[in-house]
Amino acid sequence: MKKEQVVNCQFSVWYPIFKKHSIKSLILPLPQNVIDYLLDDGTLVVSGSDHNTQQTHANNSDSDAEEDIQWSDDETTTTVTAPEFPEFTSKVQEAINALGGRVFPKLNWSAPRDANWIALNSSLQCDSLSDIFLLFKSSDFITHDLAQPFLACSDQDSPDPVINYELVLRKWSELIPGGEFRCFVKENKLIAISQRDYTQYYQHVWKQEEQICHAIQAFFSQHIQYNFLDEDFVFDVYRDSQGRVWLIDVNPFGEVTDSLLFSWGRNWRVGGKSPSSRSVIEGPAFRCTTSEVTVQPSPCLSYRIPRDFVDLSTGEDAYKLIDFLKLKKSQQEDSEEEEEEEAANVPQ
Ligand SMILES: Nc1ncnc2c1ncn2[C@@H]1O[C@H](COP(=O)(O)OP(=O)(O)OP(=O)(O)O)[C@@H](O)[C@H]1O
Ligand SMILES: [Mg+2]
Repeated sequence: MKKEQVVNCQFSVWYPIFKKHSIKSLILPLPQNVIDYLLDDGTLVVSGSDHNTQQTHANNSDSDAEEDIQWSDDETTTTVTAPEFPEFTSKVQEAINALGGRVFPKLNWSAPRDANWIALNSSLQCDSLSDIFLLFKSSDFITHDLAQPFLACSDQDSPDPVINYELVLRKWSELIPGGEFRCFVKENKLIAISQRDYTQYYQHVWKQEEQICHAIQAFFSQHIQYNFLDEDFVFDVYRDSQGRVWLIDVNPFGEVTDSLLFSWGRNWRVGGKSPSSRSVIEGPAFRCTTSEVTVQPSPCLSYRIPRDFVDLSTGEDAYKLIDFLKLKKSQQEDSEEEEEEEAANVPQ
């Protein structure tokens, strides 16, 4: 995979070509100070577009307004003030509104799929810049886009192309995971199709293999084939309940892209074994999860922190919080007792 191929798979490159067949989206250039903020490890607290936070002192005298929280007697506490980006915030909000109020956010290549656990709704659905920041700052996939987009490229000696970073906002669409497929194109031929959510068994996918394959093949030859800038690439589609096929994303043909139920070999090989003659003669090889037995845990699980942390940090589980506070209190009492004992034992 060459750097050029990665460049060509940026959202702002493929979307204008295939706009008619994809989900309505808007692209906003990412200002440098926002990029710096996203890459800054220290700050996670985000005020973003929360209008209340900055003005609490000014207008909360007769206070129904949010209470000022006093983080009082802990000397080690430092107050972290999240930076404000008023101009960018209003542009983003305008775009979100134009897309119906709920969006799916991405950078040039990646969505923060590894961070959905941190969002209160456990989803990538956002309605403000602060939602987006929280996901982006928690995502290794986003950091990869920003810090090392060409890491896996074979032409490491050539200079890195200049990247203009962009925030991609896509109209939120309830996609049923069983309708998503990843399609592998080599030398402008559709060679393989994999169920995207391979961790689950979908009976209808298994049963409708032929129709699905046929619909995707037709979509490819009518709208995609020869229209992209490369002849090797991977595209993701969604087949809706009416059988219509939509383009969801375009990805580089190489190991940065998950091969799902296929595997990347030295040559493109079906299942890593012998090349399937069916794929050459009759059209793409199709793979889906064929039984409950092969169901696997979600590949993003390893990015999560223990559920308890989330419950505690969001106050979601009140009993857990009470248990936690009790534990803290008894620990504190224990250590106070120990200190008293130690003090009593100090030789005069
Ligand atoms: N507009 C949308 N609304 C709701 N969900 C979406 C939307 N677009 C994508 N998704 C969901 O998010 C998933 C990931 O989206 P997308 O393929 O754009 O991310 P990605 O970071 O490029 O993923 P990958 O690393 O696998 O290429 C999709 O499989 C789909 O389930
Ligand atoms: Mg992708």
